[in-house]
Amino acid sequence: MSYRESQLQHHQLRNDQQNATVAEISIICSESQAMDHVKFTQMKDGDAEDYAFLTEHEIAYTKGTADRLLGALVSLDESLSGYQISRLGHSLQAATRAENDGADIDWIVAALLHDIGDIFAPYNHDEYAASILRPFVREQVTWVVEKHGDFQLAYYGNHVGADPDKRNAYAGHPYFDDCATFCERWDQNSFDPDYTHKPIEHFAPMVRAVFAREPYDPAVIREREREPLVRS
Ligand SMILES: [Fe+2]
Ligand SMILES: [Fe+2]
Repeated sequence: MSYRESQLQHHQLRNDQQNATVAEISIICSESQAMDHVKFTQMKDGDAEDYAFLTEHEIAYTKGTADRLLGALVSLDESLSGYQISRLGHSLQAATRAENDGADIDWIVAALLHDIGDIFAPYNHDEYAASILRPFVREQVTWVVEKHGDFQLAYYGNHVGADPDKRNAYAGHPYFDDCATFCERWDQNSFDPDYTHKPIEHFAPMVRAVFAREPYDPAVIREREREPLVRS
């Protein structure tokens, strides 16, 4: 079983529990209330009661994902000094530009979170952010976030000994132009201390709405479908 398949199976288990009848849930809860931790010390020794208990905990924990991400975004305010604005300011500028372009909620939230990987993954921050977004946004948006680091090299690669044409490896990809537009209109230009951006509180409901979606919902992922970045 692939990792993706195991994730889908895991989420199906969660869905089954979320769709359980009231009577079934009350049984699970009454069993869970009797526990404050699992009985096992090795996963292979766990039983149904242990895993029902853990699943309930995970469902409650995942509801806080959006607010944990918003908290992490605020901590970006203290990272990567040297620019004229903070990483949080850059993220808010990018999201504001996306909204001003009339982009949809997937694009706006992606613009806000596209550099969140800078905290823990400075050498692959694009892949890190894409992994966070992947279950909850359109495939097109995840691809663009995942590749934006390579595309950004067009603007500065020649100054740091990197290949400014690295994006050419993706020539012909259905989302190539989208990533180029993302970088040109929302990313490379969002280091301007004079640009007026919207506050994080403005974007918080959008982040919560996106991360409240059903993970990997095909109606959200919409494989190979494109939405424009610029509508206005
Ligand atoms: Fe980036
Ligand atoms: Fe960026």
